[in-house]
Amino acid sequence: MRFFTVFILALSTRAAVIPSRRSLNARQDTAAKLVVAHHIVGNTFPYTLQDWTNDMTLAAASGIDGFALNVGPDDFQTTQTINAFQAAEALGTNFKLFFSLDMSVLPCATVDDAAALRARVLNFTTHPNQLQVNGRALVSTFAGESCTFGQDTVADGWRSQFTQSPDLKGQITFVPSFFIDPATFTDFSGVMDGAFNFNSGWPIQVTTSFADGITSDLVGSGQGDVNDLNQFIGSNATDLQQIQDLATLAAGGAPLTYMAAVAPWFFTHFGADSFNKNFIFLADQHLYPKRWETLIAARDQIDIVEIVTWNDYGESHYIGPIEGALPTGSEVWVDNFPHQAWLDLTLYYATAFKTGTPPAIENDQIFMWARPHPVDAQAPDPVPAPTNFQLTQDQIWAVVLATAEGNVTLTDGISPPQSFDVVPGVNKLSIPIVPGGTLTGTLERNGQTVVQLATPGANFTFNGAPETFNYNVFVTSASSA
Ligand SMILES: *[C@@H]1O[C@H](CO)[C@@H](O)[C@H](O)[C@H]1NC(C)=O
Ligand SMILES: *[C@@H]1O[C@H](CO)[C@@H](O)[C@H](O)[C@H]1NC(C)=O
Ligand SMILES: *[C@@H]1O[C@H](CO)[C@@H](O)[C@H](O)[C@H]1NC(C)=O
Ligand SMILES: *[C@@H]1O[C@H](CO)[C@@H](O)[C@H](O)[C@H]1NC(C)=O
Repeated sequence: MRFFTVFILALSTRAAVIPSRRSLNARQDTAAKLVVAHHIVGNTFPYTLQDWTNDMTLAAASGIDGFALNVGPDDFQTTQTINAFQAAEALGTNFKLFFSLDMSVLPCATVDDAAALRARVLNFTTHPNQLQVNGRALVSTFAGESCTFGQDTVADGWRSQFTQSPDLKGQITFVPSFFIDPATFTDFSGVMDGAFNFNSGWPIQVTTSFADGITSDLVGSGQGDVNDLNQFIGSNATDLQQIQDLATLAAGGAPLTYMAAVAPWFFTHFGADSFNKNFIFLADQHLYPKRWETLIAARDQIDIVEIVTWNDYGESHYIGPIEGALPTGSEVWVDNFPHQAWLDLTLYYATAFKTGTPPAIENDQIFMWARPHPVDAQAPDPVPAPTNFQLTQDQIWAVVLATAEGNVTLTDGISPPQSFDVVPGVNKLSIPIVPGGTLTGTLERNGQTVVQLATPGANFTFNGAPETFNYNVFVTSASSA
């Protein structure tokens, strides 16, 4: 409760009394930083109020201040939005919500489509749990760069029918994720109060042919020299570009809101007979912690971090529990592939982002994750291996949060164990994995075992002969307490 009161006061005080400081360094302000998570309401069909309460409680305990509610056109999504706001209010912890209007599925061709969108937003702009930024309700999108709402241009459509429409004008801070060249942000004066860089969570430019062009032995082998690709993992390049183009759009006025993304993984495998989406983005090399470290380093310039996502099972980048209604077909790659262990890493990094200081590590923790079959496995699957599968390596990725120095041993149970010295703080480690492999990690200190992570083979075994292609990841962890 207190946190957000302070946030709003800080913003209005800043605007009133320190414009000169702001013009010296537009973004080195003292406004509170926020961490939110993208929540796909389309996957919540069977949700009860208690399910929403559980999600919000777990998210808050993981350093997450709110959910960006990704909404599409189904009636049940309107009902579940109402449930979400009701649950948040009843919870009484000031957990925040805002819309991420999914313009890849919401209609946006006519003025009536815009009226429906405004009604949806206006219903909650003054709700106590609606996230307010700069004193106005935050509204975001997924896409929307093709919407005209019956006007001549996309910018005119959003401006006249949405942000400057008499009923909505002055009530929202609009931070869309338009998939456009940020050099064209200046076309969206009066529309964009900021930008959400949805794709910044992954190095999406690293396709197989891109990788082939810069490294000779990575692609196809799954075990090649990846050092040439490291520079793209967690990079701040698109953040800095969008921040600069937002400054141009702001034209010396109040700084605009920049919302960056962090994502732990990406794999989707829908055939031509369903959503027809079958690809990966590179997420090896500890993408999730590295991207967080990048955002923490640039935190002076980033207002909000949006975790992509809480529950997008279809694209394998969920960090929340597997629950609700999964997109039909995705059960094959999602069931038995928990990601919740990443929530503890999320707490560590979200706290560091918000406070500017890494939190004290109170318990030693080992995190391990791996895909379930070799990169070049063959499978009797009617849907082929996903586009860009060649980018990924047959490795176990591990992170150790260590309270003090120690010795860590990692093994897949097949190859000889490998030992590593760890230092206090975050340690990123990896070892190869081969068919039959499982996930075992041990932290010893002064001859004593401090943490033992042994994942039962029944829960996860690296399978040399899979029935279906699955480039999702199994995530597990263990703690000293
Ligand atoms: C608006 O909110 C009210 C109260 O929560 C609800 O009854 C109504 O169905 C909502 N309408 C829309 C379009 O969200
Ligand atoms: C962006 O990343 C580069 C390369 O890691 C780094 O040198 C630079 O300091 C970063 N910029 C910010 C603002 O964090
Ligand atoms: C790690 O192992 C080495 C070699 O066995 C040992 O000398 C050292 O004391 C260990 N470090 C810790 C912190 O236990
Ligand atoms: C193994 O899987 C079972 C069933 O899903 C689950 O209850 C258990 O917690 C898992 N154990 C570990 C260590 O992941």
